[in-house]
Amino acid sequence: MVHICNHHLAFPEQKEGVMILITGANGRPGSAAVREFARHGTPVRALVRDPKKADDLRALPGVDVRHGDMLWPETLESVLDGVDRVLMISSAGPQMLETQCTFIDAAIRAGVGHIVKFSGKDSIDGFDNEKFRSSRSHEQIQRYLFASGMPWTVLQPSQFMQVYFEEVPDIVRSGELRLPLGDTTLAPIDVEDIAKVAYAVLTTSGHGGRTYTMTGPDALTMADAARHISDAIGKPVRYRDVTSEEKQRAWIQAGYPPPRASAFVQLFQERKRLGRSTVDLTTHQHFGVEPTTFAEFARRNADIFRGATDYTVTPA
Ligand SMILES: NC(=O)c1ccc[n+]([C@@H]2O[C@H](COP(=O)([O-])OP(=O)(O)OC[C@H]3O[C@@H](n4cnc5c(N)ncnc54)[C@H](OP(=O)(O)O)[C@@H]3O)[C@@H](O)[C@H]2O)c1
Repeated sequence: MVHICNHHLAFPEQKEGVMILITGANGRPGSAAVREFARHGTPVRALVRDPKKADDLRALPGVDVRHGDMLWPETLESVLDGVDRVLMISSAGPQMLETQCTFIDAAIRAGVGHIVKFSGKDSIDGFDNEKFRSSRSHEQIQRYLFASGMPWTVLQPSQFMQVYFEEVPDIVRSGELRLPLGDTTLAPIDVEDIAKVAYAVLTTSGHGGRTYTMTGPDALTMADAARHISDAIGKPVRYRDVTSEEKQRAWIQAGYPPPRASAFVQLFQERKRLGRSTVDLTTHQHFGVEPTTFAEFARRNADIFRGATDYTVTPA
């Protein structure tokens, strides 16, 4: 559901002294949002669970890195002190529901004025949220947030383009992108595009009670994705359709915890059952964000797809 109106293209600028906190700041979308604040020269507070992983964030201008755990409210008192708005992100693991509901309670006690919930929405037409653990948790967290009385906004991006970095070992070893998707299309989005929208939502007013859905600009088969990666790295990469069981074994061999591997099997089975994605660029258009194509994303990250540069959450 998109609660936006296309004529609303100008947003009042951020008031002086508004304190913004981004949680999950060491992760993919969180670090991209923090970098977007630094790029604009807008001060921001960044919550990390592991301060040892936060050197890149600390080096950015205007970023106040704080240490705490969203599951442990006693670690959040000074982190939340004086905060007006939060971009709430945590990992898509089994603890996401408890983590974010605990955090919402702590934010209410601390007098936070607005939570922007980082959620998700698959690009597949008719996707049943009950079929995937994270989608179910997001719905439960949203209900909790809406009932809490805290002013809210929800961001609902599709699959991140950055998840294709997890396929790099196969691509480098065998020249194959191996996924159990047949000729299903997906419309993945660059986290940098989401970060631009998050920046606008956090620094301007008029977003209360709105849900912003976003996908990338192309509905791609995995053969298309492989071709874009191949063009970017200058080597053959082809798509190989594998069974769910093969992919589940590969995920477990790659070190995914078994519950994560089986949640992903369910996600991919639901995608393959329905088969077709719709592109939704209304949020990009609403905020004047140029959509990044998968081809551009692959070119920008060619060294990662070649296996020449390790993927960290802060690629160039
Ligand atoms: N992956 C996708 O394609 C996709 C698409 C749409 C929406 N989403 C949603 O986006 C969100 C983030 O996705 P992700 O899991 O892929 O991101 P991620 O890169 O793993 O980032 C999540 C961050 O949250 C931090 N975190 C987790 N639990 C925490 C806690 N208790 N206290 C403080 N920080 C905590 C993690 O810290 P550590 O670094 O210490 O682990 C990590 O840095 C999820 O809600 C997911 O459902 C994902």
